Amino acid sequence: MEYILNSMMNVVVPPASMVMMAFAWPTLSFLRAAEWAVKTFFQEDMENKVVLITGASSAIGEQIAYEYAKRKANLVLVARREHRLFGIRENARILGARQVLVIAADVVKEDDCRRFVSDTISYFGQLNHLVNTASLGHNFYFEDAVDTSIFPHLMDINFWGNVYPTYAALPYLRQSHGRVVVNASIESWLPIPRMGLYAAAKAAVINFYDSLRYEVNDGVGITLATHGWIGGDMSRGKFMLEEGSEMQWREEKEVSLTNGHVGEFARMMVAGACRGDTYVKYPTWYDTFLLYRVFVPDVLGWTFQLLLSSPGPRRHSLLPDASIAAGRPLLLEAPPVGKPATTSPRRKPATTSPRRAE
Ligand SMILES: NC(=O)c1ccc[n+]([C@@H]2O[C@H](COP(=O)([O-])OP(=O)(O)OC[C@H]3O[C@@H](n4cnc5c(N)ncnc54)[C@H](OP(=O)(O)O)[C@@H]3O)[C@@H](O)[C@H]2O)c1
Repeated sequence: MEYILNSMMNVVVPPASMVMMAFAWPTLSFLRAAEWAVKTFFQEDMENKVVLITGASSAIGEQIAYEYAKRKANLVLVARREHRLFGIRENARILGARQVLVIAADVVKEDDCRRFVSDTISYFGQLNHLVNTASLGHNFYFEDAVDTSIFPHLMDINFWGNVYPTYAALPYLRQSHGRVVVNASIESWLPIPRMGLYAAAKAAVINFYDSLRYEVNDGVGITLATHGWIGGDMSRGKFMLEEGSEMQWREEKEVSLTNGHVGEFARMMVAGACRGDTYVKYPTWYDTFLLYRVFVPDVLGWTFQLLLSSPGPRRHSLLPDASIAAGRPLLLEAPPVGKPATTSPRRKPATTSPRRAE
């Protein structure tokens, strides 16, 4: 009986919903536009407010810091590479930031998160926006992984690295009726090959914050950014090498981005947060793929296979080399599709620790 009922619903509900949405669409669009205009007019004034940004040492986090600086906010910049944060602090001051605090910390360590939140409160006495940007991308076929010890690190940074700072900051955000701003990704609902663990962590992030949104109600705002490919360290071959509990990074390819998509996206994100938007999407036409995922998932599968898979033997992103023999996994940048596989890059270790003096 239940089977027959569900079979009938399968036939009736989708087309009926589509027709309903088609009729409601113009009215809903009008209401959303009106709401957007009102919120833009009454958007939050950030002057002298306090914004804590994790992952502020590069790309999107750095540009978000500059956007808040232009709005004359006080900033707390958090990442592990302290030397990069000092340069960003100078730029932020020039752009109009009131006071800028630099804190070297690892968002995967709960104690570090408690410390940077309590340092913020001790110094400024309040916290208005927490912006979670810390993240680590990857680009390898799951089956090619030669050491599974690297897996939890990707989940730790991309999921727990959002949860711990939020947990530590929530009591203070409640006091200030503040906001959590989170960088998720389009991969949270449109997973692509070679980014499975990243996509899984981002999906967890979205579900966690959408659930938290109901718990905190109107006490704390939550803005989720689900954007597509923008650029940044991730796209320039930043890789992760695990040695004990330390992370090492390849620094020579890293360049500070100050314009282009990253700057544009940061501007949109901060504007959306100050407007009180629930979601910030860039670019919005990617939403169309959601329809494909729901109604014709096979088409997406074929497209990814055509676009992203290469013929012939699979190229490895997680290659065994001398470091593997020494018991250390090495995560390398996968070569772009259509180009020959590169040889193992020479590693230039730059050991990081929660508080690193340069
Ligand atoms: N770039 C894109 O195209 C793109 C697309 C979709 C979504 N996103 C999302 O947007 C956000 C920012 O991306 P991005 O391109 O700016 O990335 P990015 O350039 O790789 O920057 C990541 C930041 O996170 C910090 N970080 C990493 N692990 C950390 C840890 N354990 N503790 C503290 N800080 C840590 C890094 O600083 P340290 O190394 O100094 O600690 C760095 O500042 C991420 O959430 C990403 O998933 C990016």
